[in-house]
Amino acid sequence: MKQIKVFSPASVSNVCCGFDVLGFSVDGIGDELTISKSKKKKITITKISGFTVPSENNKNTASVAGQALLDHLGINEGFDIEINKKIKPGSGIGSSAASAVGAVFGINKLLGDPLKKEQLIQFAMMGEFVSSQSAPADNVASALHGGLILVNNHQNYEVVNLPAPKNLYAVVHHPLIEIKTSDSRVVLPKNVDLETASNQLSSIGGFIHSLHSLDFLLMKSSLTDHLVEKYRAQYVPAFLEVNDTAMAKGALCCSISGSGPSIFCLIKDSSEAYRIRTEIDKIYSRLGIKFNSYVTSLDAKGVHVI
Ligand code: HSE
Repeated sequence: MKQIKVFSPASVSNVCCGFDVLGFSVDGIGDELTISKSKKKKITITKISGFTVPSENNKNTASVAGQALLDHLGINEGFDIEINKKIKPGSGIGSSAASAVGAVFGINKLLGDPLKKEQLIQFAMMGEFVSSQSAPADNVASALHGGLILVNNHQNYEVVNLPAPKNLYAVVHHPLIEIKTSDSRVVLPKNVDLETASNQLSSIGGFIHSLHSLDFLLMKSSLTDHLVEKYRAQYVPAFLEVNDTAMAKGALCCSISGSGPSIFCLIKDSSEAYRIRTEIDKIYSRLGIKFNSYVTSLDAKGVHVI
């Protein structure tokens, strides 16, 4: 095989109660990468369509991640990468992670799968780091594995695939402004007190139990963020109005996706999800905010060949 085309999905990270450690992939939006073997003995970004990202080898998340994989394998081969960049950078839905994951997944496939999928995360993280400076693996793990994941950032990026209830859906709204992850992390406090940490521990524990027990009341009460939302909400267009509307209409939670500006809600049942999406669409339209919106199950596919 000399050429491969892959789809690498957008993702929502944090998921209210799991700052930097929870995430899920999103159906229907992702970057497409066409990767070809080349004689040039290096990775070259030959074309970028869609949204603009750097094409220099040391700045593009896909080439940095791909080169990290080649260096690790000790392989002196070249690859050309065409990126159809469909996820806007600075969207809060894992734009840089998607390209980085697409590159390592595609190159590994062209090399005949020398590494298992779960071994690719560390190389995709090199690309993620170039783009966002900080490097939690929540978006990368979501794009790589698909579905709902828990990732351990301090120990080899171990990933747990969490059970996603079949009737659990997310609505994602992406107002088309850019917030850099690095900027969005600067507004966060460096430390939290023990009471805040304890509250967050009970939230994430409760949420994970609710996924196994299908206890949606516990899920709703557990989907709370004591760590970041209050510091970031002011930068997210219409956050309070969207949040109030979604919760009043029956969402289980409504919070910022990753570092923003995207907002997501979790909702039981797909018909309810489409109804709440329409209500939020109306808010953005009334306020004249350009946006895209998506409805996704929580077991959307991770990166795959197309
Ligand atoms: N979880 C990160 C944050 C974003 O909220 O800053 C993506 O890794």
